[in-house]
Amino acid sequence: MPQISRAWDEQDAEEAYSLPAHFFYDQKIFDAEKKDIFFKSWHMIGHESELATPGSFLTQDIFEQSVIATRDRDGKIYAFHNVCQHRGNRLVEERRGKFSPALVRCAYHAWAYSMDGALQAAPRTECLKNFNKADYGLKPVRVENYGGFVFVNLDSDAQSVADMVPGALDEMRRFLPDLDRLRLIEEVDVIVDANWKVIQENSIEGYHFDLSGPVHKELAALIDYSGYDLTSHDNWWTYIGPPAKGETTHAYGVEIGNATYQTPWFFNIGLWPNTTFYSFPYTDMIGTFIMIPLDPERSLLRFGYYGIEGRELPELTQAAIRWMNTQLGPEDIQLNVSNQKGLHSFGFTHGRYLIDAERSSYSEHLVHHFHKLCYQAIRGAEHGA
Ligand code: FES
Ligand SMILES: [Fe+2]
Repeated sequence: MPQISRAWDEQDAEEAYSLPAHFFYDQKIFDAEKKDIFFKSWHMIGHESELATPGSFLTQDIFEQSVIATRDRDGKIYAFHNVCQHRGNRLVEERRGKFSPALVRCAYHAWAYSMDGALQAAPRTECLKNFNKADYGLKPVRVENYGGFVFVNLDSDAQSVADMVPGALDEMRRFLPDLDRLRLIEEVDVIVDANWKVIQENSIEGYHFDLSGPVHKELAALIDYSGYDLTSHDNWWTYIGPPAKGETTHAYGVEIGNATYQTPWFFNIGLWPNTTFYSFPYTDMIGTFIMIPLDPERSLLRFGYYGIEGRELPELTQAAIRWMNTQLGPEDIQLNVSNQKGLHSFGFTHGRYLIDAERSSYSEHLVHHFHKLCYQAIRGAEHGA
């Protein structure tokens, strides 16, 4: 297998060889990604409406790290390392819920913390010499609200989400008029036997759209594929399909009729490294699509579906969610898994990106862009630097 050159990212996109196969299964590469990408980047963990009332919480595991986000009585959202300051016990295992009263109580010796992280009760510590509860609050984690979604970052020096993705929110608002009034409909977690980048790549290119499985063709039929536009903006990217020319009367097996919807476009926006927001044509929901790495060849694929607060979910949107969970998602996951297997072959080291000068609807320039971000983030790992 040829060694990757330090200058991999200096290749011209149109002539570039793709990222070498071992980037998708090598433990050393994965460890570097963990440290230099995921321990420094923003993780979208849910929507602020899931933290509607004091005491509500969300947790997110980032490898062996775990973060808990809470809402306090003052309405503020906080995030902390999910660990008790007595003997280091993990505090909460549930993904979401509500503490009532609004205290997180450690299951081991009942130390209890309020939603702002302050240690409120620590049984029998009166006997302790030189012990001050104020010194044993939960350890804070950076948390930000971007477009109503809650993001956390383990790196206290990280730039804000807004600074990382300038212009992204305006682009979201252009297609998602009800972005500010969302409610969670459901969350579906699927473990996929593939590297997280394999899953990402699949979602950010249109090349396979009308060439792979039958469900993809159904989606392609809803859009004007020739107008599918994939644009990169450093740390964020969009891939957007205009509505099909001519009249579309049905989608996802249901008549469109008077159904309310966010947009007739197929709208997708990706934020570095692993967050995607999207809306299927004619659906009244905003989907989230997060690929959470577990190990080099296993990822947790988290599908979130958000409807509009105070509005019933149209039958067509319900059909689209079912269709994603049972048809489109599985069709892509099958490709992810077979791609992952193939990457191990003695018969493959790297390929070519299908990138044309026009960056047309089927061009793989976003894959190249994404690989470049990954490569640059861990530069040197390959050489033990
Ligand atoms: S480890 Fe949490 S109270 Fe002891
Ligand atoms: Fe796909």
